[in-house]
Amino acid sequence: MARIRFQQTLIVLLSLAAFFRVGDAGCPIASLGRRSLKQAPVPAQPALIFGFYDLTCPTLNSIIDTRMRFWVLQDIRTPGKVLRLFFHDCFAAGCEASILLNSTAEFAAEKDAPISVTLDKFQVIEDIKSEVETACPGIVSCADILALAAAKAVELAGGPILVTETGRRDGVVSYLAGATASMPLSTQKIPDLEAMFVQAGLDINDLVILSGAHTIGEVHCSNFADRFDPAANSPFGDVSFGQELLAFCTRNGAGDIATLNLKTFMDLQTPNSFDISYYVNLIIGRGVMTSDQVLFNDLRTQPMVREFAANRTLFFESFQASMLKMGRLHVLTGTNGVIRKQCGVYP
Ligand code: HEM
Repeated sequence: MARIRFQQTLIVLLSLAAFFRVGDAGCPIASLGRRSLKQAPVPAQPALIFGFYDLTCPTLNSIIDTRMRFWVLQDIRTPGKVLRLFFHDCFAAGCEASILLNSTAEFAAEKDAPISVTLDKFQVIEDIKSEVETACPGIVSCADILALAAAKAVELAGGPILVTETGRRDGVVSYLAGATASMPLSTQKIPDLEAMFVQAGLDINDLVILSGAHTIGEVHCSNFADRFDPAANSPFGDVSFGQELLAFCTRNGAGDIATLNLKTFMDLQTPNSFDISYYVNLIIGRGVMTSDQVLFNDLRTQPMVREFAANRTLFFESFQASMLKMGRLHVLTGTNGVIRKQCGVYP
């Protein structure tokens, strides 16, 4: 009883602290705009906290754990797909589960954007949501379920056990154009990638750290076709790698564009293990996408790549910190947003 009272007091104190700390978490532009326009003050909303559902949905973490383990047993590629969903959610309009919404008569949704075409495992999040709704109806947002599932994905792939803040609420709209404008491209180089990260509210360090997520998962040939050209490849140090990729992607007949639907692993050494081999591959010129390989090629980011390739603990700690930062991007909290009943539809 005393423990519960202590927890309740702690939550109130944390919420008050958050109230005075931040309005739009991770959105300096929004708060600048408010100050300079001298509008009537917008009520500040609480920041995310650890353990937001400890009292209201105590079984949440065990449901996430059980269901994620179930899905990974069905398909070992689940962690990569779920982690990528979280990234796409946070980058396009913030971590408010808009990536999970289906298109409606009013809007074409983020998930129908060309950049989203290979996103997968929406059903894993919907499945967890339905279990959570049975246990704690109307309490837990899809945005938080996605954040917690992404953290569990990293852990189940052998990565760090990530702590995750919660208290997000769900958005009610989702725009295809928003996804197109917000997501970085696999053909981009450091200046453009950095610009996309800064636009989202992150920085060039987060770019190097979070790209480490490509230590797991798959990639379609269409996303690295620009690596086939030896001339384009030569600055990256391993000319033969582009030719290997080309041979793989055209194995059903040279020049057969349809075969660009083929896919390979992001990290050809340990595709399902969350480890440092992604960075080791970059050093030897075997990063699959241009957006990966340039992290080593650019002298600004190369030192970090070298450090992570040599120090797993440093990579894991950095990944934890950057995931927390990404998880705060333009979140809806307090009285903003809703708790959707299903993640794919609203209402
Ligand atoms: C730096 C900018 C990034 C670019 C340009 C990028 C682009 C891509 C592309 C093109 C794919 C392959 C999609 C396919 O062919 O099916 C992919 C896969 C993936 N991305 Fe990224 N990504 C970036 C950053 C991130 C971040 C920050 C995360 C998470 C923290 C992430 C997690 C993943 C994962 C786990 C996969 C594998 C998905 C699967 O197995 O289906 N990516 N990314």
